Amino acid sequence: MDEGDDYGTGGLMDDPEDYYPSTPPPTQQVFTMGSGREIVLNLVGHSPTEAHHLWNGAKIVSDYFEEDPTRVRGKTVLELGAASGLPSLVAGIFGAKKVVMTDFPDPDIVMTMQKNINACDEAFEPRGHIAKTIDAVGFVWGGDPVPLIARLSPEGDGGAGSAATGRRFDVLILADLLFRHSEHGALVKTMRETMEISRHSAAYVFFTSYRPWKKDLDMGFFDVAREAGFEVEQVLEKKLEKPLFENDPGDLDVQKTVKGFVVRWPEGV
Ligand SMILES: C[S@@+](CC[C@H](N)C(=O)[O-])C[C@H]1O[C@@H](n2cnc3c(N)ncnc32)[C@H](O)[C@@H]1O
Repeated sequence: MDEGDDYGTGGLMDDPEDYYPSTPPPTQQVFTMGSGREIVLNLVGHSPTEAHHLWNGAKIVSDYFEEDPTRVRGKTVLELGAASGLPSLVAGIFGAKKVVMTDFPDPDIVMTMQKNINACDEAFEPRGHIAKTIDAVGFVWGGDPVPLIARLSPEGDGGAGSAATGRRFDVLILADLLFRHSEHGALVKTMRETMEISRHSAAYVFFTSYRPWKKDLDMGFFDVAREAGFEVEQVLEKKLEKPLFENDPGDLDVQKTVKGFVVRWPEGV
């Protein structure tokens, strides 16, 4: 019997040409800073981990840094679940000393983060500064923090210097990461293992409850953080004109609202 014989079904058993939906192509978004400067952001076309959007958490925490750049200036910054990495770029623009932008170690996502660093480097003077300051790295929440902390070594290339000096990150950014309730413990573990043990370090946790009926579960993150010894303070609540996703179910006011919290080590640590 010849290869390709269709047993007389006339091709009935073949997959139609468009049987496997093609992967959506990458997209671009332009974020306009308060100053009017634009940042062009590339996003992966599709992501089971939700890296294919620019979420409100990233936009509003970026505005928050621009309102008072001392929140990031001269600081070492770690962003978790960055996707486009907008807040990391803004931190770099406003003079952060070192920024490590991380997301799930999917090559497509890491490549896209690096593309955004390169594009921002070309757009913002002095040329070469953003590229030198910001690293794009794959990292799973709760994973080994040593390779991240090692990025703070003077070589800045993952050498063991900083791991040896014990210096950690002054600022952490968690933008729209609370929707995965099973991961709250892993996020808090990473906060404990990467945030400089000082009253002056801060984790900026900005988010919207896109599924309003689960907002108490989203907020459960802060109970896990408190149980781990952190102090939690709400610093922002902003209602946007419209929700990120039109026609989503649930309370519209909740969908339009972005909340910002700062998580710190307690006094006297
Ligand atoms: C809702 S998106 C938020 C993206 C970005 N922070 C923003 O505000 O635009 C969640 C991000 O977390 C990442 N992520 C989800 N689970 C993760 C995990 N276990 N470890 C690392 N990153 C994860 C996703 O890839 C995605 O980029």
